Amino acid sequence: MASKNEFGTKIGLIAATVGSAVGLGNVWRFPAETQTNGGAAFLLLYILCVLLLGIPVMLAEFSLGRGGRSDTIGVFKKLSPGSKWWLTGLLAVIASYIIICYYMVVAGWTLEYFIESVSGGLYDSLTDADSAEALHGTFAAKMDEYVSSDMRPLLFTYAMIALNIAVLLGGVRKGIENLSNVLMPLLFVILLVLCFITLSLPGSGEGVKFFLTPDFSRITPATVVNALGQAFFSLSLGMGILITYSSYYPGDTKLVNTSVIVSLLSLLVAVLMGLIIFPAVKSFGLDSEPLKGATLVFVTLPEVFANLPAPQVWSSLFFLLLLVAALTSTISIAEVSVKMMIDRFRLSRKAGVLIVMLPLLALSAVCSLSFGSLSDFRIFGLTVFDLFDHITTNVFLPLVSLGVCIYMGWFAPKHLLSDELSNKGTLRSPLTGSIQFIIKYVAPILIATILISNYL
Ligand code: PHE
Repeated sequence: MASKNEFGTKIGLIAATVGSAVGLGNVWRFPAETQTNGGAAFLLLYILCVLLLGIPVMLAEFSLGRGGRSDTIGVFKKLSPGSKWWLTGLLAVIASYIIICYYMVVAGWTLEYFIESVSGGLYDSLTDADSAEALHGTFAAKMDEYVSSDMRPLLFTYAMIALNIAVLLGGVRKGIENLSNVLMPLLFVILLVLCFITLSLPGSGEGVKFFLTPDFSRITPATVVNALGQAFFSLSLGMGILITYSSYYPGDTKLVNTSVIVSLLSLLVAVLMGLIIFPAVKSFGLDSEPLKGATLVFVTLPEVFANLPAPQVWSSLFFLLLLVAALTSTISIAEVSVKMMIDRFRLSRKAGVLIVMLPLLALSAVCSLSFGSLSDFRIFGLTVFDLFDHITTNVFLPLVSLGVCIYMGWFAPKHLLSDELSNKGTLRSPLTGSIQFIIKYVAPILIATILISNYL
């Protein structure tokens, strides 16, 4: 019988890890990045980055987490006592905490849009005579109302914080694992249903072509950097999440298989999402608008749904999908700090959860208000929301991944990596040698290049 601080089943452990990896990064950020970076060529680069670099770096985190069996800071202290490597763990905890502050706000929007879809509020002012422009205007105004007013989005952010607290208090098995076991299959079913619907729309072929036929002339150094950034974000790398979750993996979990399954499922979700969005958008000729970030899913897609019979049904399903993706990810990222509190300060889970989550009531409020009353408050020309997003994605996450790879490749106890990859020599995988080579040499060089290129 495994302890309550371990995932109970293999399926549960994979569901929880996939739940973390599949988040707004796949369903929201990926289509927007693909759109701005030229379509299929970006998809191809993203796939290469996930397979060649993402999987090895994920394995570095898994080996560190399961080998050290502690929180993100504790693993370094335990494996290399007296060294300063724990600072890498600290950076990961700080990064993950900054990310929750703004991610919780977007998670709140998904809840708001889901509720407004179910109740019909999102579609209540439409008439059959609305022109395409009128429709666009309506949804742009709705988004303004839902996102930019001061109180409304805040209430939904708080609701998401409350949901997170409820699940986190349940602990690893009863909270995180049980929830993921139910929500992940649901997410895949919704994805397949929506994909089927959009692919059967007239004219959807154009969208599929844009998404799947690469135009290599559009690849620039910036595209490569963006693809790698997207791959790392969508696999939850550099945030301490995978170190934390793998510390709950039983000793006989096959890490290489797990990382391949998690990465492929995360990729699959991104690809299915592309197959939902691009055909739908092309089919209704909505791709002339700049499809950037939030507008893509919160304005353009409601426009698509309004053009279908029974818009409320599709809209509810879609925002439920987003909500599920966001919830399982917020839980994983909050658990990084919760476990840190429990292990470092010997707190009970209850105290840890409350100490981590309650300050978010104020911190995510500041991020939410970045779209309302605080939109003019700028630091380095960015709103608080954008600043938090920017420093984490472009600076902290690559720095943490760089630190983890250098540590695991060069400074960790001698056989840690190979022992973890092979479950102490009991498994043989033809991939182990190449994985170690990538962690030691290829990943650090590439990540450092990206970090530097961000400043050029
Ligand atoms: N892979 C996650 C995503 O795509 C990354 C993430 C996890 C971000 C948790 C924030 C919180 O959204």
